[in-house]
Amino acid sequence: SERDSLYIVSDFANKHYQQILQTHEQGSIGQSYLKERGLTNNTIRKFELGYSLDAWSDLTDAALKAGFKQQYLEATGLTIVKEDGKKYDRFRGRVMFPIHNISGRVIGFGARTLKSNDKKSPKYLNSPESEIYHKSNVLYGMYQARQAVRMQDMCYMVEGYLDVLSLHQGGIENVVSSSGTSLTEGQIKLIARYTQNITVLYDGDAAGIKASLRGIDLILENGLNVNVVTFPTGEDPDSYIHKVGDEKFKAYVKEHSQDFISFKTSLYAEESKGNPVKKAEAIREIVTSISKIPDPIKRTVFFQSCSLIFDIDEQLLISEYNKMHLQER
Ligand code: CTP
Ligand code: MN
Ligand code: MN
Ligand code: MN
Ligand code: MN
Repeated sequence: SERDSLYIVSDFANKHYQQILQTHEQGSIGQSYLKERGLTNNTIRKFELGYSLDAWSDLTDAALKAGFKQQYLEATGLTIVKEDGKKYDRFRGRVMFPIHNISGRVIGFGARTLKSNDKKSPKYLNSPESEIYHKSNVLYGMYQARQAVRMQDMCYMVEGYLDVLSLHQGGIENVVSSSGTSLTEGQIKLIARYTQNITVLYDGDAAGIKASLRGIDLILENGLNVNVVTFPTGEDPDSYIHKVGDEKFKAYVKEHSQDFISFKTSLYAEESKGNPVKKAEAIREIVTSISKIPDPIKRTVFFQSCSLIFDIDEQLLISEYNKMHLQER
C-alpha cells in the first residue's frame, strides 16, 4: 500500500543518513558537531542520528537508483520537485534526527543546521505532514522512552530534540519532546497510555513559559497531573545538564519540581501584587485552570492552596468557579 511505501522510503533515508554520518568522509563534520554537543556514540546509535550531505540531490539520487518511486520521495517531503521538474533534497548539510512512531518505524525527520548563527536558513527543518506523519499525534523520543515512562510512572516533557538526547544520555530516559510546538490533545492521549503524570521542563525564558501555559491547561483537562520545573534564564535542560552534570541536574529537578497550579498561581500573584484590577484578572485566570481539572477532590485542594497564595477567601474562589460554570450552561 501507499503507507507501506512511505515507511520503506523513510527507512531507506534513515539508513542512508546514518551511513553518511558513520562512514562517509563528510560524516566527520556531523560527528564533530554531535561530539561538541556532548553526545556519545552510544546515544548517537540508540537514536539513529545521521547526517545529510551538503549536496543538491544526494539522497534523491540514491533512492531513485535503488528503485524507489519519485512519488513516495515527494510524499514524505524528502525530495522537493521544482516547477521546472528539477529535484532536490529537502535536507542538506544537516544533522538528522529520525522521528519514530510508537512501534519504532521512522515516519519523519528533524534536521539541524550546523551553523550557529545563520539568519538565512532556519535552525531546524522538519518533515512535512504526510500519510504516515501526523505531527499532532507524535512525540519525539516516545519510542525510546516508553518503557521508562511506564516504569517511573512519569513523563518529562521538554522543548527540543537535544534536550531529549542529553537527558536520556544522563540517565533520565522517561523524556519526550513536542518539538517546539504547544501540546496537542493527541500527544497528551499518547502519554496517558503510559502514565497520568507529566513534568514539564521549560526553557528558562519568561516568554516561553507564558506561551506554554495554555498547553498545560489542556493536560489538566485530560485529567493528568502536571508538575513544572523552570531553569535559570538562558538555560534549557540540555545546556543545564551539561553545565552542572547529571547528578546535580537530577537533584535540581527534584528540588524545583512544583505542581502546575501552585506554579501558575505564584507567577500571577507576583505579577499582580498591589494592583487590585490585575489581581482580579489573575484570580479568574487561575480559577479557569482549576476548573479544567475533572476530579472534584483535586479541585478543592487547589482552591485551598490558591486562597492561601492570594490571601483571599476560598469561598470567593468557589463562587467565581460556580459563576463560570453557570455561564457555560
Ligand atoms: N524548532 C523547530 N524549528 C525552529 C526552531 C525550533 O522546529 N526553527 C523546534 C525544534 O524541535 C527544537 C525546539 O523547537 O528542538 C526547541 O527550540 P529551541 O529551544 O530554539 O532549540 P533547541 O532544541 O534548544 O536547539 P539547540 O540546542 O540545538 O539550539
Ligand atoms: Mn552529557
Ligand atoms: Mn508536535
Ligand atoms: Mn532550547
Ligand atoms: Mn538547546
